[in-house]
Amino acid sequence: MINYVTAGESHGPQLTGVLTGIPAGLQLDIDAINTGLAARQGGFGRGNRQQIEHDTVQITGGVRHGVTLGSPIALTIMNRDHAHWAAIMDPVSPATATNTLRQVTRPRPGHADLVGGMKYGHRDLRNVLERSSARETAMRVAIGQICKQLLAQLDIHLVGYVQQIGPKQVTADLTLSVDQLQAQIAQNDLRLPDAALVPEIHELITATKKAGDTLGGVIRVVAENVPAGLGSYTNWDTKLDGQLAAAVMGVNAMKGVEIGDGFAAASHYGSQVMDEISWDEHAGWSRLTNHLGGFEGGMTNGMPIVVKAAMKPIPTLYKPLQSVDIATKVSQKASVERSDTTVPASIVVESVVAIELTRALTATFDGSNLARFQQTVTAYREELRQY
Ligand SMILES: Cc1cc2nc3c(=O)[nH]c(=O)nc-3n(C[C@H](O)[C@H](O)[C@H](O)COP(=O)(O)O)c2cc1C
Repeated sequence: MINYVTAGESHGPQLTGVLTGIPAGLQLDIDAINTGLAARQGGFGRGNRQQIEHDTVQITGGVRHGVTLGSPIALTIMNRDHAHWAAIMDPVSPATATNTLRQVTRPRPGHADLVGGMKYGHRDLRNVLERSSARETAMRVAIGQICKQLLAQLDIHLVGYVQQIGPKQVTADLTLSVDQLQAQIAQNDLRLPDAALVPEIHELITATKKAGDTLGGVIRVVAENVPAGLGSYTNWDTKLDGQLAAAVMGVNAMKGVEIGDGFAAASHYGSQVMDEISWDEHAGWSRLTNHLGGFEGGMTNGMPIVVKAAMKPIPTLYKPLQSVDIATKVSQKASVERSDTTVPASIVVESVVAIELTRALTATFDGSNLARFQQTVTAYREELRQY
């Protein structure tokens, strides 16, 4: 089963990731990983940091001549901005009067600053914000894009896109395939499936930035051709919809997760929500609709997986909110760390969904070697078709 860990501070020398459990024999497309990283950095409404960083992944373990070995994959993404922070973020030199400049003592409401300081006993809240910063999500994207490449080898495809920014909601065509959605979101700099609202949303972001404020939004991820039966109804912690919800909520700033119709299902009748069952000789078992977003009993049911995430607005405000200085206890405006008005988080949510689907597949089938993994999954699909 795959697993991963990330390390590294926002302005430290680099981000590090270790991904275990990827089958041997997967030909990696490094350019595609870097395209995912660029998607996390791009988009309208980003701050200056993204002009400094041009994220590319370096692979230093677990891969030979572009092909995975089955051993842990070691990944690095350099922080170019570290050049401006080399002394302050030096991992080993002892603290001095000059390399402890730029301390943060006025916690930002809605960020990890205050509680992180209280919990870990830090008096310089930079020790919290450097790790709680979503800079870390760059590594989750790199890992997720590797998982996405593995999923593609099983003919499983997914995409994450933006459905809402602030109050502006796109009425997306929910029947679009992953390929069609990919093509649509590539047409604009907001990852929106319908370009009609782009000018309006650009204006909204510009006006919000001018006002020193920030925006949140809603992200939707669709995954197609996931075999039925991943996850299990047998124990609460084996339910894959629960694991997906945890992973999505584990992305910085996510405050809500829905599967399928989610909260809307609560106000409908059962007859409007349950997806009626169908069977045909060629395709096997299916559902006539997909209100339940591809899950029944914590297990995939073979329909497209649909996960939505609600992201709160970015907490760092250039027009800062009220806070209290932790050194003086005097009421002060919160500190401001270079920040964005809104962020392209849909690639991050897409990546963590790819990771969890890969985890479920490698937990269910022998994932030591890609060819065997593919054969086993193909045989399993055929067994289900004939059920
Ligand atoms: C891709 C991405 C980029 C983000 N960029 C910023 C940012 O520039 N400034 C900021 O204050 N928060 C940013 N956030 C959100 C914070 O990291 C997050 O709100 C904070 O860590 C507190 O965690 P919580 O919101 O999950 O409680 C970003 C989140 C994501 C997913």
